[in-house]
Amino acid sequence: MTSINWDALLGSAIDAMKRAYCPYSGFPVGAAGLAQDGRIVSGCNVENAGYGVTLCAECGMVSELIRSGGGALVAVVAVNGDEVPVSPCGRCRQLIYEHGGPSCLVLMPEGVAPMSEVLPGAFGPHDLDSVGALPAPASSDTKEGYDGAL
Ligand code: THU
Repeated sequence: MTSINWDALLGSAIDAMKRAYCPYSGFPVGAAGLAQDGRIVSGCNVENAGYGVTLCAECGMVSELIRSGGGALVAVVAVNGDEVPVSPCGRCRQLIYEHGGPSCLVLMPEGVAPMSEVLPGAFGPHDLDSVGALPAPASSDTKEGYDGAL
């Protein structure tokens, strides 16, 4: 089990936040995640004139997770422009759940919480598995976190 250096994660999220492209909201966000193998991945929000096309910081973070080798997220932090932890939006909770599973820890404004509390009753790979709709046997929900195998 990789130990969690929350200060390093926060620092990485703050660095990412400073790169945000948010001319429409003026609300920069940076997200950082610790992967099971110790890698730290990060992302910032990238807005668009078509507002709904905006990419959240967590989306960029997950993209980097996959691009840099995959694996499961064990801890995630997102910060706002004041460098304070911000609550991930609903869609981002789903993204984090997919790649971290129920045990992934998230630094919420109120403190650290597992994804099982951040997104209770989550829809996940287990729902597909339950009707045989998962293409391969693996399901993340019985493991420490999704390991990238479908
Ligand atoms: N935002 C994120 O990047 N992540 C979240 O979890 C919440 C919202 C961004 C999207 C948009 O660019 C700005 O914050 C204001 O909603």
